[in-house]
Amino acid sequence: MEGMTAIGQVGEIKRRLLTPAKIDGASVVVIALPDGFQVVENRCPHQQADILHEGSVDDGGLTCPLHGRTFDLVDGRCRNGAGRLTLVPWKQIGDTLWAGPLPAQGFSSF
Ligand code: FES
Repeated sequence: MEGMTAIGQVGEIKRRLLTPAKIDGASVVVIALPDGFQVVENRCPHQQADILHEGSVDDGGLTCPLHGRTFDLVDGRCRNGAGRLTLVPWKQIGDTLWAGPLPAQGFSSF
């Protein structure tokens, strides 16, 4: 799995809902969704806080616990402000979830 990092066992990740992990030293969070997963950089674009693993998930969006910005988990766009999450490629092989690499351009901040 060139460029990808083994995150963990799928069953365990699904139980947690939000799973923090590291990819090449970068902090990411895996979100378990009803139809799969999303992996995003753990950093909120609003104030660059590595806090999204403590957020909440509802209606296909991830809400940052600091100031309540909600990001769509399909395209990463903020629903109530500016900014966009960095989405990270992932793949399930057998019972293992793999993710990475982080996109080179990183995230945009506002
Ligand atoms: S740091 Fe996430 S909403 Fe402000």
